[in-house]
Amino acid sequence: MANVADRSETSTIDRTVWTTTPTCRICRAAWNMAPGMIAAGKDGKAIFVRQPETPDEMMQVWRAALACPTGSILAPRGLPVPDHVFPEELAPNLYRLGYNDNATAGAHPFFIRTSTGLNVLVDGPRYVEKLVEFFEQQGGLDHVLLTHRDDVGASAKYAKRFGARLWIHENDREASPEATDILTGYDITEPIPGVTVIPIPGHTIGSVAFLADERLFVGDSLNWLIDEKRLWTNPLRCWDDWDMQRRSLKRLQDFRFDYLLAGHGGSIGLPAERMQAELATCLDALDETTWQPLTHFPNGVPIPDEMKQFWQTEVPRAKADFFAAMSRT
Ligand SMILES: [Fe+2]
Repeated sequence: MANVADRSETSTIDRTVWTTTPTCRICRAAWNMAPGMIAAGKDGKAIFVRQPETPDEMMQVWRAALACPTGSILAPRGLPVPDHVFPEELAPNLYRLGYNDNATAGAHPFFIRTSTGLNVLVDGPRYVEKLVEFFEQQGGLDHVLLTHRDDVGASAKYAKRFGARLWIHENDREASPEATDILTGYDITEPIPGVTVIPIPGHTIGSVAFLADERLFVGDSLNWLIDEKRLWTNPLRCWDDWDMQRRSLKRLQDFRFDYLLAGHGGSIGLPAERMQAELATCLDALDETTWQPLTHFPNGVPIPDEMKQFWQTEVPRAKADFFAAMSRT
């Protein structure tokens, strides 16, 4: 594997310590991996606020380096990458894969081997041999699940490599033309044995959560705030409709889960009862929020005209479908 410490364009940077480059795109993947050591600087980009001190912290910053989609986390020059940085085993048969793809704005991808014997990739990492080898060791991939249109990454390439079925919701399907299976409507289904599909539109109108073995994969619709230790979702990162997103998240109250896996932001394992208590607190707070369709993405880029058009045509149709489905339950 290439050593990310050996990047030649960083000759003016102090390479005797862990450091960052200005190429950071503020996806926060790195500081999810190494909280307390990596944080936002004055311009919002990742900086080291302190160096790793223990072997565990050293592994955390290596995970940050390999997760960072822009290669903005630099190890001290010459420090070799240890083995087994990724995949990171979060719980038995559950892994965070790292190698976050720049095309997903640095979303975290995951792997689960289900109790029904299926190997499942959730959302798309970069295509790297290290993960191909890992999937080979696991016996391949059966399914690749996409939580929504933003987190596609190299999912199709992995699906093709392993002959896996590739799933996305119909309302986000344009993001994955290679998808072999299209999830339709907003009812809760179990199209794969042991995998429940819970549509949670709002962040995008094709957002879904996948529940397997009490592990819940929620894409960008909900996450654990690592510093504040609570569940939250940011209205400024709700692209399509906030009313839908808030109502969608209430659906999660009907399910038992002890791990919440987020595309962006923190993931968390908690006893199922505590998880529901955290969710209830989050939902109460969300009820107090207001939202207007965005004029700009969080990085300052104006919303393009085609997205505004999409909001006027596709989103109202989806919203009517969703609330009709909700009225039936
Ligand atoms: Fe997203």
